[in-house]
Amino acid sequence: MGKKLVIKHAAELITCRGSAPKAGVAMNEIGIIADGAVSIKDGIIQMAGPTAQVMAALDGNDYEEIDAQGKCVLPGFIDSHNHFVFGGYRAEEFSWRLKGDSYMEIMERGGGIINSVRATRQAGTTELSQLALTRLDSMLGMGVTTVEGKSGYGLDCDTEIKQLEVMAALKEQHPVEVIPTFLGAHAVPKEYEGRSGEFIDFLIEEVLPVIAEHKLARFCDVFCEKGVFSIAESRRLLLAAQKLGLKSKLHADEIVQLGGAELAAELGAVSADHLLHISDAGIAQMAQKQVVATLLPATAFSLREPYARGREMIDQGVAVALATDFNPGSCFSESIPLVIALAALYMKLTPAEIVTALTINAAAAIDEADRLGSIEPGKQADILILEQPSYLYLPYHIGVSIVETVVKKGEIVWTKAKGSCHDKCSEK
Ligand code: NIG
Ligand code: FE
Repeated sequence: MGKKLVIKHAAELITCRGSAPKAGVAMNEIGIIADGAVSIKDGIIQMAGPTAQVMAALDGNDYEEIDAQGKCVLPGFIDSHNHFVFGGYRAEEFSWRLKGDSYMEIMERGGGIINSVRATRQAGTTELSQLALTRLDSMLGMGVTTVEGKSGYGLDCDTEIKQLEVMAALKEQHPVEVIPTFLGAHAVPKEYEGRSGEFIDFLIEEVLPVIAEHKLARFCDVFCEKGVFSIAESRRLLLAAQKLGLKSKLHADEIVQLGGAELAAELGAVSADHLLHISDAGIAQMAQKQVVATLLPATAFSLREPYARGREMIDQGVAVALATDFNPGSCFSESIPLVIALAALYMKLTPAEIVTALTINAAAAIDEADRLGSIEPGKQADILILEQPSYLYLPYHIGVSIVETVVKKGEIVWTKAKGSCHDKCSEK
C-alpha cells in the first residue's frame, strides 16, 4: 500500500495551478485557498482544496496528518539557474572586485571562469560530489526541492562529462532533484585561446554527441556575451544541440546588449537568463514567443550592476522566473531569501509574482511545468510549509528563510527543528 499524507488547515494554501508559464498579470494569480488542505498518495498530489472537502474525500483513514494551522503551504521552490558543481573558490577575486576591478577585467586577465575550470579539472568525482551534497543541503533548508545544475567548469570532454555524471549520481544521494544542463560553451579554454569558433566546432562534433547518447543533459546553454561567444556561434551550437534533442537556454545580455534575448526568441529557447541589458525589442519578442525570462538579482547585486527590468518585462507580458545563479564567481550565494528580497525591493515584483516566479514559472524554465511547480492533482508532491500564515511574509522577513517543513515526493525531508531528516542526508 502506498504512503499517504494529508496537510490540513493551512491558513493559506497557495496552489499556483497551471501547466504552462504565467505571463504578465497572470503572474499575480497564485490561487489562495483559506483553511486549505492537500492530500498525497505515493508522492503524487491527490486533491487540493478547502480542508473540509479534502478530508471528506480521503480514501481511507491511514493518512499521516500534518496540522498547518497558522501556516502558509505552497509549492516547493525551484532554483532554475544554478552552477553548484565546481571545484575551488575565488574569494581573492571577490576581494579584487570589492576594490573596483570588474568581472570582465578579471576574466580577461585569465581569472574568472577559467580559474574554476582549473580547480574542477583537478577535482576528483568524490570531492565534487561531497561539495555538491553540502550545497544541496543548504538549498533544501531554504525550500528548494528541485535545482537546475550546469556543467561548464570543464570545457573539455572528460571534465564536462564528469560534472554531469556527478549530477546524475546525486539522484541516489539527496532528495533535491537535479535537472542537468550542458554549458560547455561557458568560456573559451586556454587550449582554444583566440579560436572560439573552433571551440564551438569541437563541442558540436566531439562533446554534444556523447552527452546526447548518454542522456547526460536536458538543455544546452551558452554564455552569449561580447568577448565570449557571439550570436552566430551561440546560434550554431544551440541548433546543433536541438537536433540532438537538447532544448535551449542562454546566458543573454548579461554584461552588454548583444541581442541574446532576440536569439532566444528566434530559437524557441525554453529560457533566456540574466537579461540585465535586454533591449525593448528583446522584451517584445520574448513575450511573443513565451520564452521564460529567468532573472538573477543576486548576481546583479554581487556584481554591483543595475537590476534587470523585471517590472517592465512582466508589464509587457513576459513570463518571469527567479533563480539564484549560485556559482563561484559572479554570485557565490544559493540564498533564495536574498533573491526574494532583491526582487521585491529593487525589481519591484509583487509578493505574488515572486511566488509564481519561484514555482510554476521556474518549473516552466526547466520544461517541467506539467509535473512540478504547483499544488494540484497529478503533480509531484513537492511542498513547503512556512512558519507564518501568509506568503506575504516571504519578502517581509528580509533575507531570512521562513520555511519550516519541506516535503519532497510526499515525504518530509527537512524540518527547521531537525534539519535534514531524509535517509539520504549528506552527514550519513
Ligand atoms: O551566470 N556569466 C556566466 N556564468 C556565470 C558566472 C560563472 C562564474 O563566474 O564562474 C553567471 O554569472
Ligand atoms: Fe549563470
